[in-house]
Amino acid sequence: MEPIRIAHLTDQHVGRVTPLAIQRQAVALTNAERPDLVVITGDFVCHSQLYLDQLVELVREFRAPVIGVLGNHDHWAGADEVAAALRRGGVEVLRNDSTIITIRRQRLQIVGLDDAYTGHARIDKAVAGLRRDLPALGLSHIAEEADHLWPYGIPLVLAGHTHGGQITVARLNDIAVGKIGGHKYVHGLYGTRQSHRGAVVTGAVYVGAGIGASVIPFRIGERGKREIAIFEFGRRPGEFEEPDREKDPLPGRTLSPRRMRRRAEKVIRRHAHRSLRRTVEMDSV
Ligand SMILES: [Fe+2]
Repeated sequence: MEPIRIAHLTDQHVGRVTPLAIQRQAVALTNAERPDLVVITGDFVCHSQLYLDQLVELVREFRAPVIGVLGNHDHWAGADEVAAALRRGGVEVLRNDSTIITIRRQRLQIVGLDDAYTGHARIDKAVAGLRRDLPALGLSHIAEEADHLWPYGIPLVLAGHTHGGQITVARLNDIAVGKIGGHKYVHGLYGTRQSHRGAVVTGAVYVGAGIGASVIPFRIGERGKREIAIFEFGRRPGEFEEPDREKDPLPGRTLSPRRMRRRAEKVIRRHAHRSLRRTVEMDSV
C-alpha cells in the first residue's frame, strides 16, 4: 500500500481576529507539504458572515481536494451560509454524512459529523452508508465524539475546537480546556492505534491546535502554536519519527441537558437575530 498523505487543519476562524496573511501562510505551508487530501474540522468563520468571500478565496487556494465539517462558530454565524460558501470554494462539506475518495488507486471513506457543541451531531446518520470493507477516517469538530465513532470501525478521528488551549504555559491549557471546558481531549493524540480483536473497541483521536482565534488574538507556549498536522496512512506507528505520542484522556465531564439546551438555543437566537436584521435592512431600502 502506498502511504496516503493527509493534511489536517482546523479552527481557521477567518475574520477580524486572525490576520489574512496568517491564513494565506497556512494554505501555502499546506500546499508545500503536497498532501493528497486536505481535511478541515470546523470553525471556518469567527462570529459572523462578514468574511465569507475571503473564506471562499482562501479555500480555493488549496491544491489538493478539501473535505470539511462545521464547528460551533459556523453554526452561530449561519451553518447553511457557511456551508454554501465552502462549496463555492470547492470544499466538500459533510454534515452527518460520508463520502468515498480515491487516492493513488486506493479508496478511503471519510465520515463527517456535524458540530456536537451546538447539538447537531447525528452519529447514526453519519455512519448510515458506511462500508465495512473500506478503511474510514472520521472528522468531528468536537473530539469527544470519537468515543462514539470508534465502535463503527472508524479507528482514527481528527478534531479541533480547543485551539490546544491557546495559552499553554504552566499547563494552563489543560486547566482551561480540561477542567473548565470539561474536555477529555485537549491537544494532540489520544487513545490507541493498535487494534485489539475481541477487546473493548477503541481507537485514536487527534486534536489539532488550529490556525486562527476567535477571541484572544495571540497564542502562547509550545503546544499553543498554530498547527498543520500531516498524517501518512499506510505506515505503522514506530516506522517514522513522530512529534507526539498517545496520551491518556483527562477525566472530562458529561454535559447536563440544561447546558445542551442552552447551546442549542444560542444558535436559534443568532438565527432569529440575523433574520430580523435582514428584514429591517429590506424595509429601509
Ligand atoms: Fe469551536
